[in-house]
Amino acid sequence: MTRVALIGSGRMGAFHGETVAQRVPAARLVAVADPRPGAADALAARLGAAATTDPTAVLADPGIDAVVIAAPARFHADLVVAAAESGTHVFCEKPMAMEVADAVRATDAARAAGVVLQVGFNRRFAADWRAARTLVDGGLGAPRTIRSLTRDPGGFDPARVAPDTIFRETLIHDIDTLRFLNPGATAVEVYAVADALVRPDWRDRGLLDTAVMTVRFDNGATGIAEACFEAAHGYDVRAEWFGPGAMLSMGSTRADGLVVHDAAGLSAATVRYDQDLFRDAYTAELTTFVDAVVHGGGAPGGLPGGEDAAAALAIAVAGSESVRAGRPVPVAPVAVSA
Ligand SMILES: NC(=O)c1ccc[n+]([C@@H]2O[C@H](COP(=O)([O-])OP(=O)(O)OC[C@H]3O[C@@H](n4cnc5c(N)ncnc54)[C@H](O)[C@@H]3O)[C@@H](O)[C@H]2O)c1
Repeated sequence: MTRVALIGSGRMGAFHGETVAQRVPAARLVAVADPRPGAADALAARLGAAATTDPTAVLADPGIDAVVIAAPARFHADLVVAAAESGTHVFCEKPMAMEVADAVRATDAARAAGVVLQVGFNRRFAADWRAARTLVDGGLGAPRTIRSLTRDPGGFDPARVAPDTIFRETLIHDIDTLRFLNPGATAVEVYAVADALVRPDWRDRGLLDTAVMTVRFDNGATGIAEACFEAAHGYDVRAEWFGPGAMLSMGSTRADGLVVHDAAGLSAATVRYDQDLFRDAYTAELTTFVDAVVHGGGAPGGLPGGEDAAAALAIAVAGSESVRAGRPVPVAPVAVSA
């Protein structure tokens, strides 16, 4: 039984804590750490775990094998390094760092310590995306174009959104999807446009809530990643792979299979919430993580690890640079230790 501690018990952390405690049979949630006074208590009590306000306490505890990090992104890299140095296996939410150098530092620390490091690119574990990758691996040839989009349901507070958020925290998922569906290729150049179209009243303060980026890969494929913080129809995540002999499409806006036919025409419910759309993917990613821990350190091929986090972040950073520069920019090569 893998003993897991959760670090950060906000919206995503609470769901991951519940997943570990209730839907990953080989794991037991033993502790919840969150520095905000009282934040961990109710969740820990509900899930039968201990609560603490000190994340370092769970890393020092020899009774804990692995941590799930779901703190705000700016704390991730240092938490990954601290976990690695304490010999604790790490699942870290995306983005694993805010700067590429920190992603490399965290990746190197995990490798030096020989702990599993998995990053929360949950779409790789969603059934459609996984099936598409299996087909790509089966020999569909090089893609011509790959697309990925994320539209959030809205209701965000513009005061809490840093200008780069749409690249480093949202499009990072789409960037990872482009890489996942174009295995072995390296991104070389990015061109991005972004604006405040949902909240134009915040444009002068640097808000970017809508963005599109093109990513040129060294095998000739072009990726197109798109995001917006508000969609009237709910939470919309889809992707497409297009190559010489096939087009693969992933995801749907549909919440279920029901279509109502009535005097007004046809209607169907749409997905409203990420934890509904990706519930199975979130369970699969943590099941896979625990499996990697149990079967002995080092992530087996295919797991999204530190190198994937660093490579995706380099593309995201190039995206925000491209917006500032108003032109295409090269993607800086990422060098993690061999
Ligand atoms: N994979 C996905 O689909 C997905 C979805 C949502 C959020 N996320 C990611 O999960 C992370 C958390 O997002 P959220 O929406 O849960 O945020 P949140 O603000 O709801 O929760 C963050 C929690 O971390 C706590 N915290 C603050 N500083 C901390 C520290 N130093 N150590 C430990 N905990 C600390 C806060 O008190 C808060 O309870 C972000 O990186 C976000 O990008 C991923």
